[in-house]
Amino acid sequence: MSGDITQSQEWAALGKHHEELAGSHLRELFAQDPGRATRMTVTAGDLYLDYAKHRATQETIDLLTALAERAGLRERIAAMFGGEHINVSEDRAVLHVALRMPREAELVVDGQDVVADVHAVLDKMSAFSDKVRSKEWKGATGKPIETVVNIGIGGSDLGPAMAYEALRDYADAGITARFVSNIDPADITGNLAGLDPATTLVVVSSKTFTTLETLTNAKVARRWLVDALGEDAVSKHFVAVSTNAPKVQEFGIDTDNMFGFWDWVGGRYSYDGAIGLSLMIAIGPERFREMLAGFHTMDEHLRTAPFEANMPVLMALLGVWYNDFFGAETRAVLPYSQRLHRFPAYLQQLTMESNGKSVRADGTPVTVSTGEIFWGEPGTNGQHAFYQLLHQGTRLVPADFIGFAEPHEDREGMHDLLIANLLAQTTALAFGKTAEEIAAEGTAAEIVPHKVMPGNRPTSTILAPKLTPSTLGQLVALYEHIVFVEGTIWGVDSFDQWGVELGKKMALDLAPALTSDEPPTTFPDTSTEELIRKYRELRGR
Ligand code: F6P
Repeated sequence: MSGDITQSQEWAALGKHHEELAGSHLRELFAQDPGRATRMTVTAGDLYLDYAKHRATQETIDLLTALAERAGLRERIAAMFGGEHINVSEDRAVLHVALRMPREAELVVDGQDVVADVHAVLDKMSAFSDKVRSKEWKGATGKPIETVVNIGIGGSDLGPAMAYEALRDYADAGITARFVSNIDPADITGNLAGLDPATTLVVVSSKTFTTLETLTNAKVARRWLVDALGEDAVSKHFVAVSTNAPKVQEFGIDTDNMFGFWDWVGGRYSYDGAIGLSLMIAIGPERFREMLAGFHTMDEHLRTAPFEANMPVLMALLGVWYNDFFGAETRAVLPYSQRLHRFPAYLQQLTMESNGKSVRADGTPVTVSTGEIFWGEPGTNGQHAFYQLLHQGTRLVPADFIGFAEPHEDREGMHDLLIANLLAQTTALAFGKTAEEIAAEGTAAEIVPHKVMPGNRPTSTILAPKLTPSTLGQLVALYEHIVFVEGTIWGVDSFDQWGVELGKKMALDLAPALTSDEPPTTFPDTSTEELIRKYRELRGR
């Protein structure tokens, strides 16, 4: 639907339903309908979702899926997979799903077979990765590569960094990866510390190859290498991942050592393509392709499963339900897996850069809040930090719990304890503990209110057999599609990010004023001028 979804009868019906349901407690919903525990589940590939602990009934799901129909979700899925220019503000197709289509698939977009292009790049990445992993690729002094340093930021960092951490158990060639992103010199200094330039490969990852942080860090790394091994060493120790060949060349990297992608891949949707090169070198092309197959499984699920049995659709609609009808401000993502410790950070860019918009695709203002705020930490660490607020605070924070049945390593039954904690938390959040139950334990009357656990706090639980390249791919694609479905309901363009441009430009305008008496040419407000003065004073300038 183009226009204002909140004016639809489906939206109105959800508003009325919310009034009827908001007063019900999950204890009552389970008492009235114990069968919800088996019915409110869905399987997609290897992922199993339990959504019974949501403040929703079958009627809620029916109304939400009707809303999805009204929003034109079916047509929009077809438009994305068909390569239509659904990124309207940049007039681009949105085809991260093509990055993981099997070789035999065909998708012609704007006159070009994009699947063939994708596999040509994957083959080039695989050949290069194999050479590095087998030690056939030698550095300038003849030594093989031991460390890959990915220099990139945002989508050119968070994806490969998150996935490398997640899949470390598969890094079997003795090659470790490090990730440098921040313009803070502490980042590159810390990450180059202890490395031998002779055994280091730098992957400069930037879709545009114009990003200040990345180019600055890359120059520092280049200087570090050249100081140690000389100018001629660059071709053996620097490769690039980009869509911008002229800029790569200008930087001094041979475009033979460049791995490309296309403007129809958004930065935050790109680590399953060439931006994943550092990951591929670490885990190998075969494992990388298993990850792509996992992504593709979830893509096919999105494309073919009916909405009421469609995992990303259901999770997205429940996101809209809490965001827009219950007024929830945030969603916590709580992986009970230390390996997924960067997953919430990765999701923050994916979701908030995509749906943090206040105009619809046609430029008219939205009339509801969009863009869930994602945050989180791995369990059980979060339990000892912020769960207090989740259990007894005044805010409603829906949460996604993620767990794996089989660990990569186990010690003294630790993994079962990890999962027992996950299950305990979702149970306590849903059902809480009443004043009567607490009083019955002999608690003093004046202490009882402090111990009441209100419950009725909704959670999704995702269980998978094991954290593998394939299940990681499925999980990431699940959230990519949640973002897409939510964006469709809200009618926003989930694939541009104009909001980050102004600050970048202002930083460049302001930088000279930090070192010289020249005032900034644009945006000279008195508060900023005063801060510049104070900064210079503190630096003795
Ligand atoms: O500043 C935001 C952003 O444009 C992201 O969308 C992108 O992932 C990141 O910067 C890095 O951009 P690039 O890959 O072009 O260096």
